Amino acid sequence: MPQGIRRRSLLQGLSGAAGVSLLGGAVAQDAPRRLPIPPLLDARAQGGRIELVAQPGETEFWPGVASATAGYNGSYLGPTLRVHSGDEMRVRVTNQLQEDTTVHWHGLLVPSAVDGGPHNTIAPGARWEPVVPVRQAATTAWYHAHPHMRTGPQVYAGLAGMLIVTDAHEQGLRLPSRYGVDDLPLVLQDKAFGRDRRMVYPSGHMQAMHGVHGNAMLVNGVPQPVAPVPAGLVRLRLLNAGNARLLDIAVDDNRAFHWIATEGGLLREPVSLRRLSLAAGQRAEILVDFSDARPAGMVSLAAQGRSLPVMRFEPQGAATSAAALPARLAQWESPPAARTARRRRLVLASGGMMMGGMGGMGGMGGMGGMGGMGMHTIDGRPFDMRRIDQRVRLGDAEIWEVTADGMVMPHPFHIHGVHFEVLSRGGQAPVVEDQGRRDTVIVDETVELLVRFTQPAGERAPFMYHCHILEHEDMGMMGQFTVA
Ligand code: C2O
Ligand code: CU
Ligand code: CU
Repeated sequence: MPQGIRRRSLLQGLSGAAGVSLLGGAVAQDAPRRLPIPPLLDARAQGGRIELVAQPGETEFWPGVASATAGYNGSYLGPTLRVHSGDEMRVRVTNQLQEDTTVHWHGLLVPSAVDGGPHNTIAPGARWEPVVPVRQAATTAWYHAHPHMRTGPQVYAGLAGMLIVTDAHEQGLRLPSRYGVDDLPLVLQDKAFGRDRRMVYPSGHMQAMHGVHGNAMLVNGVPQPVAPVPAGLVRLRLLNAGNARLLDIAVDDNRAFHWIATEGGLLREPVSLRRLSLAAGQRAEILVDFSDARPAGMVSLAAQGRSLPVMRFEPQGAATSAAALPARLAQWESPPAARTARRRRLVLASGGMMMGGMGGMGGMGGMGGMGGMGMHTIDGRPFDMRRIDQRVRLGDAEIWEVTADGMVMPHPFHIHGVHFEVLSRGGQAPVVEDQGRRDTVIVDETVELLVRFTQPAGERAPFMYHCHILEHEDMGMMGQFTVA
């Protein structure tokens, strides 16, 4: 297919879907397909080198129906990158798209100069070759496109992948770690399909207000797949790579599972849960015990009514007795809250005003003519590439108090280049699910975060903090900060 047509269909598929009629209700499944496992690129196995090509493509989410998509080294999503803590990733990204892109290492604690925030643009045809030093505990992170005002459409098109950091401590715990066998990367995304089963990027008033929600769940790019698993303990690395939807993950027979890791790595000890919320941008690792050999489904529970089916698991072989879990997983020290350098207050607001053409914010990106910049703000102002909103001292710990204002909805608030811990929620002690080292947190009530700034960020490429509902981010709910 000629590039010109591909570009048109990519852009149309991504932003021209206002008023399209969507496939109704639960999207009917043909025969469930097997869960695909993204190829594993282990940096150590290739001399530290990671090669990524951002490219347009076409993907058959439903047999015989091709949708315009984009991916890294393929037509949709990207390989799983695995890197050992202490190593360097020598990355080469080539942009074969016909628009600017960037690649952000979401969850890596690295200097902003080698992180692909909106300032580190890769033009069409150009290359970006950062050397990324990885110096943090084992964790499940991810990478995704992050260009100015186009993060929503590019991630939606498929420009995202998982990034696993491993280290000697984690390997010594003997958690399930056979990639694709008992250690499954699960990239969870809800996507909107039209009546013709083509993927669309709906862009109406609803999407501008609440972000893009889909009518079918994909896991690793396949609608509601089925995964054969060993009859035993299985580790699931969950990544909510959807644009907006807040997932509430459970097993459909209501069995308990062990929650073992957050965005920032392993918890201090396993936590038994029956449901786990996962906002856009968040990750979690859980261990599910399939030693009874009974098949089960994973669902996202809905506040009212039917739950959304996500995928199914089919244990292979006879029942076994499950392996024991380590009682302790990780240790880390939190800086004493009383000795933080300072406190900042941030107010996230949605739906305050519809701006149209106010304040010289110029043209719109993904969300075309609907509202646009200024509809979503932090501290009363929409994002501005040329304005540094906060200046932090390298090495400091601070308390960030983050509040949501205006239309009441939970915003997944994310900060680049840091881990934080939740000190309080709604004026109370944090809830069980707030524990651990985080980089993304749900803000509906006021939260107090204890943030440690260990990575430098200069004026040329500052770090971002933003709502991870990507349409909120693209339309202004983002700020930037330097660390020096
Ligand atoms: Cu995944 Cu700036 O974010
Ligand atoms: Cu990030
Ligand atoms: Cu938001």
